[in-house]
Amino acid sequence: MTQISGSPDVPDLGRRQFMNLLTFGTITGVAAGALYPAVKYLIPPSSGGTGGGVTAKDALGNDVKVTEFLASHNAGDRVLAQGLKGDPTYIVVQGDDTIADYGINAVCTHLGCVVPWNASENKFMCPCHGSQYNAEGKVVRGPAPLSLALAHTTVTDDDKLVLSPWTETDFRTDEDPWWA
Ligand code: FES
Repeated sequence: MTQISGSPDVPDLGRRQFMNLLTFGTITGVAAGALYPAVKYLIPPSSGGTGGGVTAKDALGNDVKVTEFLASHNAGDRVLAQGLKGDPTYIVVQGDDTIADYGINAVCTHLGCVVPWNASENKFMCPCHGSQYNAEGKVVRGPAPLSLALAHTTVTDDDKLVLSPWTETDFRTDEDPWWA
């Protein structure tokens, strides 16, 4: 009566999925290992002191060139770049046409969606469950429990933008950074 003919396939499927996961994990690990020296190479020695910085990249993977970047964006813009650990990070264009000395990690602190900037609302508004962050990335509406993480930005002599870890007090909350 009980249908059991399909059951021998179940372990096979499970195993295949497991193998796929394993293969993906291995490739990811190898890729990360291969990338690391390249990333280290890109860090200008002059940025030493903060440590662990990376050159910000645009959506195509090219280094952000600060002069071009400022020429093509307006004051108040928040523009996504690839930052520390490959995290999407907003570069903030200030009113005086300079780049703010902090970047805002775009990963929602609720469940990790990338949070879009809503210029008309002057907020970051997460489409996944409705969390909101002010223009500096401070959480103003849940369910997100925490503000968006920060990174330091430094413009180098050769017109690049370096993002480095923010380990000091969070200037928006006067608290220790939860991400450091
Ligand atoms: Fe952003 Fe849930 S992931 S609100």
